[in-house]
Amino acid sequence: MRLEVPEEGRLEGLPERLWLEIGFGGGEHLAFQAARNPDVGIIGVEPFIGGVVKLLQRIETDGLDRVRIVVDDARLLLRALPDGCVERGFILFPDPWPKKRHWKRRIVNDAVIAELGRVMRRDGLLRIATDHLDYGRWILETMLRADAFEWLAERPHDWRERGPDWPETRYEEKAVREGRKPVFLRFRRR
Ligand SMILES: C[S@@+](CC[C@H](N)C(=O)[O-])C[C@H]1O[C@@H](n2cnc3c(N)ncnc32)[C@H](O)[C@@H]1O
Repeated sequence: MRLEVPEEGRLEGLPERLWLEIGFGGGEHLAFQAARNPDVGIIGVEPFIGGVVKLLQRIETDGLDRVRIVVDDARLLLRALPDGCVERGFILFPDPWPKKRHWKRRIVNDAVIAELGRVMRRDGLLRIATDHLDYGRWILETMLRADAFEWLAERPHDWRERGPDWPETRYEEKAVREGRKPVFLRFRRR
């Protein structure tokens, strides 16, 4: 269940179809995807142990045997992934770090997106959601700067709506309850 990340070198023996969720929180989105896509292997990376325990319970009760968990910082995992191995990536409601002096902690930044560009395969899909206006702008600016990705929005509906294969997470529910409108950004790996 738990995936150990090597300190040096790349991970080997990964599934042909691999999806990655960064900061899965309580794991509800990851468990949803794993249950509906049994031919896909999914790695979830999350340092918050409470969330890991919740997902482990779901893995056990729902028999999600193609899920692997990394209990660590996503950047350590990204470094260890081989080029072009990830078909889909998800970063849902990452911590917004609203204070300017904390912006450097934002997980969506040029370096992380460059690593995602390296590990994702061509035509792979990256989904990022946020309910934070300023972070949403920051995410979009970062992604539009990144040559490896193309934003897949043609009309407002494309970023205002989740779509049926994208379930609500705990943070989205909280945001909506508190009156914030999330955005759902989709990018294609060029
Ligand atoms: C606001 S929560 C959102 C959780 C979940 N995605 C959701 O939508 O309910 C952000 C999550 O990202 C995790 N996180 C923060 N920094 C991280 C990092 N460097 N690598 C992986 N996960 C991280 C946090 O522990 C937290 O669970």
